[in-house]
Amino acid sequence: MSKRIDVEHLNVYYGDFLAVDDISMGIDARSVTAFIGPSGCGKSTFLRTLNRMHEVIPGARAEGKVLLDGEDLYGPGVDPVVVRSMIGMVFQRPNPFPTMSIRDNVLAGVKLNSQRISRSDADDLVERSLQGANLWNEVKDRLDKPGSGLSGGQQQRLCIARAIAVKPDVILMDEPCSALDPISTLAIEDLISELKEEYTVVIVTHNMQQASRVSDKTAFFNIAGTGKPGKLIEYGPTSEIFSNPHEKQTEDYVSGRFG
Ligand SMILES: Nc1ncnc2c1ncn2[C@@H]1O[C@H](COP(=O)(O)OP(=O)(O)O)[C@@H](O)[C@H]1O
Ligand SMILES: [Mg+2]
Repeated sequence: MSKRIDVEHLNVYYGDFLAVDDISMGIDARSVTAFIGPSGCGKSTFLRTLNRMHEVIPGARAEGKVLLDGEDLYGPGVDPVVVRSMIGMVFQRPNPFPTMSIRDNVLAGVKLNSQRISRSDADDLVERSLQGANLWNEVKDRLDKPGSGLSGGQQQRLCIARAIAVKPDVILMDEPCSALDPISTLAIEDLISELKEEYTVVIVTHNMQQASRVSDKTAFFNIAGTGKPGKLIEYGPTSEIFSNPHEKQTEDYVSGRFG
């Protein structure tokens, strides 16, 4: 089930360093939201706080609220492991477990959440997840072979299959195509457009064509200089951010005039 996210006055710190400053925004369900902005402006940092993944980094902490359909993910008694099963993450480098079979890679997240499932339910889930990641036809005859034998683009779709196998509400993707060739990139972009029928998708991308191709809304982040915090500069419908932005900083960035 697809759910919306509302972020209220979120600050993120690494120790004393304020990396992300006072972000408030709503992320629509059943849509793709792109985060763009120069390197170091806090896109990954902010993305990780949406499923409490930053808590695995020593010294990282967040203040503020992240609501999933109105429920505070930072509320007392909320288990970050449960949060991460509701809000999955796909990373820059495809990271399947290399010695694990394709089948077991798909099931890895489900087993991590210690759900017990029968062999036949597992088979169904593997097939449905691989179908959902547009990978089934390519791997159905080698499900017991290691995930590391796949191409980079296939490995990334395997990671997406692993993410959707736990039936999340939201999928976060941090530059999911930056290690892929153009053909694999297009395959992932097609997949993202399909995923939004069922999930809320947030994608960080440094590729502005990609943001304009796949996203419904775009958020532009920026930093005033090294050591300064990242801020949300402008957020709106993707067509507007790229063709008619309100802020000069946004216009300079999307038109490639950035310093
Ligand atoms: N694990 C970390 N420990 C300390 N500082 C970090 C860590 N990760 C990122 N930062 C700092 O936080 C800021 C934002 O980084 P990041 O979120 O990676 O930006 P982006 O993804 O937009 O390139 C940068 O100044 C970066 O050096
Ligand atoms: Mg990043």
